[in-house]
Amino acid sequence: MQGNATDSWLLALPKAELHLHIEGTLEPERMFQLAERNDVELPFESLDALRAAYQFSDLQSFLDLYYQGAAVLRTERDFFELTWAYLERAAAEGVHHAEIFLDPQTHTQRGIPLDVVLQGTLRALARADSIGVSAGLILCFLRHLTGEAALATLESALPFKDQLLGVGLDSSERGNPPEKFRDAFELARREGLHTVAHAGEEGPPEYIWQALDVLGAERIDHGVAAIRDRELMRRLAADGIPLTMCPLSNLRLHVVEDLRTHPLRPMLDAGLRVTVNSDDPAYFGGYVAENYRAVRDTLALTASELRTLARNSLEASFAPPERRAELLQDLERSATPVST
Ligand code: ADE
Ligand code: ZN
Repeated sequence: MQGNATDSWLLALPKAELHLHIEGTLEPERMFQLAERNDVELPFESLDALRAAYQFSDLQSFLDLYYQGAAVLRTERDFFELTWAYLERAAAEGVHHAEIFLDPQTHTQRGIPLDVVLQGTLRALARADSIGVSAGLILCFLRHLTGEAALATLESALPFKDQLLGVGLDSSERGNPPEKFRDAFELARREGLHTVAHAGEEGPPEYIWQALDVLGAERIDHGVAAIRDRELMRRLAADGIPLTMCPLSNLRLHVVEDLRTHPLRPMLDAGLRVTVNSDDPAYFGGYVAENYRAVRDTLALTASELRTLARNSLEASFAPPERRAELLQDLERSATPVST
């Protein structure tokens, strides 16, 4: 299945995006525009020089640049505009539901008040309905910081609890096991928030077990390493734990060296609830539809398998039951190309 007709089918396929860092949608042009507007100095002479720096050797080499880029975000308006631009792009790619990650500590550590960050982001999310998207916000703790810092971050965000979907865990994985964040996740669950965690991106299968059994994570973000642990594969399949996979991110950060060997295919075949997402699209060369296209072309996925990925994303979402039923109906009503 190749070509423009099927690409437009992929764009229209009703889907949810469940693994998207809003700071990772900061396109180079916007980074320069905001640097100028906010009088922030960027260590790059030009857009080309910035783009040339997007050659990553691993997760940390990306994160170093990513946190530097995020420093141009300073005002409520910046967060609003960034989030709104993502929502418009997502809607154009058939995203009917989006659960967006935000790293509060990346901003509060630079002296930007949490209120500013959340008000701007939430104001955009509150308007998503007007373009046919339901949307929610997941606050991620930076795992290179302490468990105490995560707990304090959650406590400071609790006044916004009713406008939040849940909490997550991201940043440098190696050497920062999920168990460091036991207390913050326990509080989040007590407060009725959903829980997800990055695990098994660069870290070992053990971190996925911990995310499930210590943090009570309802979804695993990435989960690539699970392919190396048969018992874990059985557990993920038996419990229907969703994996929010990000193929182009994995390629760019050398989690896999070739998409043809990406574990998404064997995981799908083993009945795992795999989903496709973009992670940090401005840095990794593709929004969600491009990730679907990439796995379609390299893993020879059929239209029926692509629909399964889309269905998984809708089923794995934290949308309320009525909205989820509506989303699944959108998918059932959507057409499949005749050629497949
Ligand atoms: N923050 C943004 N993107 C990330 C990724 N791929 N892994 C961990 N933390 C992140
Ligand atoms: Zn991520």
